[in-house]
Amino acid sequence: MALIELRNVVKVYRSGSVETIALRGIDLEIYRGDLVAIMGPSGSGKSTLLNIMGLLDRPTKGLVLIDGIDVSKLSDRELAKIRNRKIGFVFQQFNLINRLTVYENIELPLIARGVPPSKRRAMVLEALKKAGGDPSWLRKRPNQLSGGQQQRVAIARAIVGSPDIILADEPTGNLDRTSAKIVVQTFLELNRVGHTIVIVTHDPEVANCCRDIFVIRDGRIVDLLEPDPSRCIVNTAR
Ligand SMILES: Nc1ncnc2c1ncn2[C@@H]1O[C@H](COP(=O)(O)OP(=O)(O)OP(=O)(O)O)[C@@H](O)[C@H]1O
Ligand SMILES: [Mg+2]
Repeated sequence: MALIELRNVVKVYRSGSVETIALRGIDLEIYRGDLVAIMGPSGSGKSTLLNIMGLLDRPTKGLVLIDGIDVSKLSDRELAKIRNRKIGFVFQQFNLINRLTVYENIELPLIARGVPPSKRRAMVLEALKKAGGDPSWLRKRPNQLSGGQQQRVAIARAIVGSPDIILADEPTGNLDRTSAKIVVQTFLELNRVGHTIVIVTHDPEVANCCRDIFVIRDGRIVDLLEPDPSRCIVNTAR
């Protein structure tokens, strides 16, 4: 069974009298252990698609099934619960909270899930380590770190609750090449240990590290490309 299945998903945004059709009937199946890239021009619907896959937004039409469960019948509260348990997000702009320390940022999803305080510290440390971060960052504020370091903190926050699915929207979009490599390396490692990963990216060198590349154009999936691992930003020959 697919971990995430979209059936004929349509998304229409309405603001006043203006209608934008962002998705025009998407059929998509993501399986456990997949490592998928989504590519396409600006405005083609990539973020909209990711937000719907991640239950941050609802489709105008069509079905979203997570682990075979049709989520359209669930309340916002129930959706939030599934999202919290199963899905971790990573964004281009990191979306960290500068009022909080790095430690507190990574801890947030655990508080939302009701993990007792006594268990949280070990989980935060473990997640930061997996994301290639350094414990010396924990007392700092996110804005005292470099972009690449902040993205590793954001990845730690996304994985701290061991979600099945990691959805990343242009995670290397704001990073230099060295930091991008580290972030991609982290995703490859997370995928190797069983996390299902979907990465929206403009960078062919990131997409080529994945096992499937979906191409979206004008709200439709128009192509499924075979990645070329020799053009992956990190050396995957291991
Ligand atoms: N909240 C919104 N309200 C109205 N229109 C929106 C909204 N979000 C996105 N859109 C429109 O939907 C379409 C798809 O947007 P989306 O953000 O999914 O594109 P994208 O592929 O992620 O682009 P980019 O590569 O620039 O991030 C665009 O035409 C955009 O203007
Ligand atoms: Mg986008």
